[in-house]
Amino acid sequence: MYKIAVIGGDGTGPEVAAEGVKVLKAACAKREVKIEFTNFDFGGERYLRTGEVLPSTAVEDLKKFDAIYLGAIGHPDVAPGILEKGILLKLRFDLDQYINLRPVKLYPGVETPLANKGPEHIDYIVVRENTGDLYTGAGGFSMKGTPNEVAIQTSVYNRFQVDRCLRYAFNLARKRNKNKTLALCGKTNVLTFVYDLWERAFHEMGEKEFPDIKRDYYHVDATCMWMVKNPEWFDVIVTGNMFGDIITDLGAMTQGGMGVAAGGNINPEGVSMFEPIGGSAPKYTGLNKINPIAAIGAGMMMMEELGEKQVAVDIEKAMIDVMQKMKSMSAGQMGMTTTEVGDNIAKLCS
Ligand code: IPM
Ligand code: MN
Repeated sequence: MYKIAVIGGDGTGPEVAAEGVKVLKAACAKREVKIEFTNFDFGGERYLRTGEVLPSTAVEDLKKFDAIYLGAIGHPDVAPGILEKGILLKLRFDLDQYINLRPVKLYPGVETPLANKGPEHIDYIVVRENTGDLYTGAGGFSMKGTPNEVAIQTSVYNRFQVDRCLRYAFNLARKRNKNKTLALCGKTNVLTFVYDLWERAFHEMGEKEFPDIKRDYYHVDATCMWMVKNPEWFDVIVTGNMFGDIITDLGAMTQGGMGVAAGGNINPEGVSMFEPIGGSAPKYTGLNKINPIAAIGAGMMMMEELGEKQVAVDIEKAMIDVMQKMKSMSAGQMGMTTTEVGDNIAKLCS
């Protein structure tokens, strides 16, 4: 019996999470996999009502589950940073979900803005380190509010964090068995400390432990260029937290947009959390117009990570079928409602 914590969150988060749960229930029932969902009301509404971002027991409570399934965090009436730091980033950090796995995969029938590129060109996966970098909150102000105000925010990495992320990425390149290529995305020409550490660790580990995996290196700006011009070059990309955040939004657009892109915050030894990588899209709340594909894809990734490969394969097949019948991946232009997309996929995998 898999015990899943569901955090619908803000805006359209609960709507897309509901469709994901619907599909997961259907797909698991078909394969006689037992799964149980428990809802948590964490998010902007709860914060506005109670003044508390997360209850003090939240992290310990969530540790009792096999995985966490998240809709979206971000509320228009709450200042930027409060919910993101207090919920999403706190869970990533406190549950030590050190890998943020973000596949960039163009499915058949889905439109990409890249000219002359199809599903055979766009199929790679970004391993974004998820615990360090500019996200640690190291920094501060001095002389705040004066004309001499100073603000500092520092990228922080230690060798342990870099090594465990690289090892995961090398193993993934081996497991995918596609081009057997791992590309490090960095900025060694300017960030001569942090990405120097990454680059040394990358080659040392590759040489010693993964001689079968080809190693490429790209600066982050060039990575963006090649993701647009020659996405077929990529198999697995590994990078730090900040660059990973940025390049995966670019990647998401090339695979059909935020309505499609899913991700997993993974602690291979602990509790992982799966989410559509787009935001809470507040203007579409309650309209039954938002695309739940990314959330359903996150559910598929969750089953794969839990070891239920067959359930994941069933969900992916059903998603591909329904995506080909959808008019667009954009909210309100799908030719189906949110619930119809979920119903159609659920039917196909039950
Ligand atoms: C993401 C988001 C988050 C991040 C925000 C909401 C804190 O952009 O998951 O990519 O920067 O990691
Ligand atoms: Mn982001």
